[in-house]
Order: sequence, then structure tokens, then C-alpha cells
Amino acid sequence: MAATSAATLSIGTNVSCGRKVGSLSQSKPFGVRFNSQNSLKSFSGLKAATSVSCESDSSFLGKETSAALRGSIALKAQKENQSYQYHLQPQAAFKVAILGAAGGIGQPLALLIKMSPLVSALHLYDVANVKGVATDLSHCNTPSQVLDFSGASELGSALKGVDVVVIPAGVPRKPGMTRDDLFNINAGIVKNLIEAVADNCPDAFIHIISNPVNSTVPIAAEILKQKGVFDPKKLFGVSTLDVVRANTFVAQKKNLKLIDVDVPVVGGHAGITILPLLSKTKPSVSFTDEEVQELTVRIQNAGTEVVEAKAGTGSATLSMAYAAARFVESSIRALDGDGDVYECSYVQSDLTELPFFASRIKIGKKGVEAFISSDLQGLTEYEQKALEALKPELKSSIEKGIAFANKQAVAA
Ligand SMILES: NC(=O)c1ccc[n+]([C@@H]2O[C@H](COP(=O)([O-])OP(=O)(O)OC[C@H]3O[C@@H](n4cnc5c(N)ncnc54)[C@H](O)[C@@H]3O)[C@@H](O)[C@H]2O)c1
Repeated sequence: MAATSAATLSIGTNVSCGRKVGSLSQSKPFGVRFNSQNSLKSFSGLKAATSVSCESDSSFLGKETSAALRGSIALKAQKENQSYQYHLQPQAAFKVAILGAAGGIGQPLALLIKMSPLVSALHLYDVANVKGVATDLSHCNTPSQVLDFSGASELGSALKGVDVVVIPAGVPRKPGMTRDDLFNINAGIVKNLIEAVADNCPDAFIHIISNPVNSTVPIAAEILKQKGVFDPKKLFGVSTLDVVRANTFVAQKKNLKLIDVDVPVVGGHAGITILPLLSKTKPSVSFTDEEVQELTVRIQNAGTEVVEAKAGTGSATLSMAYAAARFVESSIRALDGDGDVYECSYVQSDLTELPFFASRIKIGKKGVEAFISSDLQGLTEYEQKALEALKPELKSSIEKGIAFANKQAVAA
């Protein structure tokens, strides 16, 4: 684990500033708005080198945060004896594919990834019409080339040579549906897409968004195993939205500066399997028993909050796209050699007796580098009980996914 404080600035959806928190460095991505003059300079074609303005007091980062960011970047540069301009002049080099790119999550996610100058190519794949999305997006003067791929015959081409594959393909939850109701449709979609990933880009980082994530990740693992290309370090269930929501709700409740708040969320990605570890909140903050109960339940049911508010038109798309873009950004920084990237994700794990478990992980060039086991030590009685209570449900979702995958014939 990195012992030093580090700050890596990357331009795009997030300015990410890894910081030391206690003994644990964490990634702290946060949104940044480009001030108009500089953003035009920054994004005139491939001139990403002109970079983002951290000076912008009109940005929603605010003066203090901008100053802290500049300070921490300079500190890292000092420690590493290099110019921080290096970090402000990233090279567009990574290829990202989104499978399900024409959907409610896919479109805003594509836009957010298109804003990253670390990305050289953005491959948009869908069974629905994705040409319009790609054409529209391609007019943005940011570095990446946008290409569209439609239908099964173009799936292989969409995946060739990509570094990160993000999968939000599937159907969203409607009111009255549980995540398990989605299972039969989305399980089949994920299986087919993962077969193509195995055949065309087996070394890519794979980010699974399609629900139920508790089952679709084990399905993906089984399919990759059947294809002989499973690397558990590179298969990620995207549970970032749980962390994003936990941070937001805790900051609101405790009147904290949002940018400072970090709540690890462990377990799985549905209902009671989502376990925010409020006792591990940074900065350290105390909660009454009622607050813990209220916040935990709200974080666990936040997806339903959105499903009900959208009244039949879908589930979380914008916040999900934001969370997925953060996870893509973190993955790309890790692939780019940043040694200080931490995120929560649902992955193959030996932290508990369950084969898959969401926890904070360190991500490096080759994928998962370490599990942050300290988050699971010294839990409160409430958290310990909730952890034990979630295990049977998570176990059965994992088994359901494995059983589904093993019943399927994998395409040769
Ligand atoms: N992980 C999370 O935190 C999280 C949060 C919200 C939603 N989700 C899940 O994300 C998924 C997508 O949600 P959405 O709101 O974008 O749905 P959507 O219906 O708006 O979009 C889904 C897209 O997937 C496409 N698609 C369907 N089958 C496909 C296939 N075989 N290959 C490629 N594309 C295919 C559709 O054409 C559509 O464009 C759902 O499963 C939803 O439950 C996950």
C-alpha cells in the first residue's frame, strides 16, 4: 500500500486526488467544471496538454478545494521530483468500449468518458441504434475517436484492442420489480457479451453494471473460466454508485463538506447486501443509532428511491453514469501507472467465506492488487450483525449466477 500522500490530476469527468487518509490512501474523485476560456483551450482537438484549470474559482470545486488540490499536486511532484505538469498533460492512449451504449446509462456514460483526455478511442456498441449517439458525441472536440458498432456481427470489432470494457447492457428495473426479476433477461445478455469479450479482448478490465450485479459478475467469471481466460483481478462489479450515494447522504446528514467524505461500502450490490460501513467514515464522525439505521436503509434502498421517482420510466441512469465514469477513470489511472488508486468494487475475494464480495480494493496496472481488509476490522455491533445477515442472500445470488452459467453452452 502506498505510504505517501499522492495526488494525480486527470482531466475529464473527475479531477482525482488520491490522498492519505489515516494509513490508507484513497482515491477521491470529484467533479470539476472547466471555466469557459480554459476549457476551450483544453479541449481544442488533441490539445489536452493545455490542461484543466485548477485555478478556476468559478468552478464548483470552490476556492478552498482548488487550493488544496493545487497544493497536493505540487506536493506529489515535489516528492516524486518531477514537474506536476506531467500530470496535467496526460496522453490519450486508452481504448474503452461501452456495451449497451445507446441506453439510459450508456449515453451519459459515453459523454463523461468522451471528456477524458486519457481515452484515445471510444467504441459504442448496442443492439439498438447507436449510430446517432456516436455521431452526436463525435462532434465534441475532445481527444477520443468515437466509433459505433451495431448488432452481434460488429461486436467483435467493437472489442478488439480495448483496455476497458464497460457493460451497462440489459433492462433496467421497473417499479415492483426486484433486481432478481431482471435476472433471466440480463443474465443471458451478460453471458453473450462476456463470450465476445473472452474471444476478442481477454486482457481488458471488465466493468459489469448490468443488474443483478451480485449474480452477473459470477456469471461473467464462469463464462471466462469456460473460455480459459478468467483473470479474477480484472473482473469488476461496479458498486461505485453505493459509495457515491453513501458519501452524498452522509455529507448531507452531518453537514460535512461533500468532497471530504468517504464511506466504504462492502458486501454486494442489492438491498441488504449493500453494507455502508458508517463507522469507517472519513472524516471521523459519530452517528446516533437512529442515524445509522436511517442512513443504512436509505443507502440500501436508494435505487428504489430513483425507480419510484421515475415512475415506470427506468432506474438510476445519470448518477450511475457518473459513478461508472469515476470507476473507468480510476481504472485508466491504474493502467497508466498511478500507484495510488483505491475504489470499492464487487470482485472475486477471499476477505470472507463468500467467493465474491464488495470491498475497498487497490487497483494497479494488472487489476486488483490488494484487498483493504482493515475496513472489516473493528466493526460496530450493528455492522457486524448486518454483515452476517447479508451473507446468506449474497451467497444465494452468487450460486444462482454460477448455476445459470454452468447450464449454458458456451459458444466455441
Ligand atoms: N450497477 C449499478 O449500480 C446499476 C445502477 C442502475 C442500473 N443498473 C443496470 O444497468 C442496466 C442498464 O440500465 P439502463 O437504465 O441503461 O437501461 P436501458 O434500457 O436504458 O439501456 C440498456 C441498453 O442496453 C441495450 N442492450 C440490450 N441488450 C443488449 C445486448 N445484447 N447487447 C448490447 N446492448 C444491449 C439496449 O438496447 C439499451 O440501449 C440495467 O441492467 C440496470 O438494472 C445498474
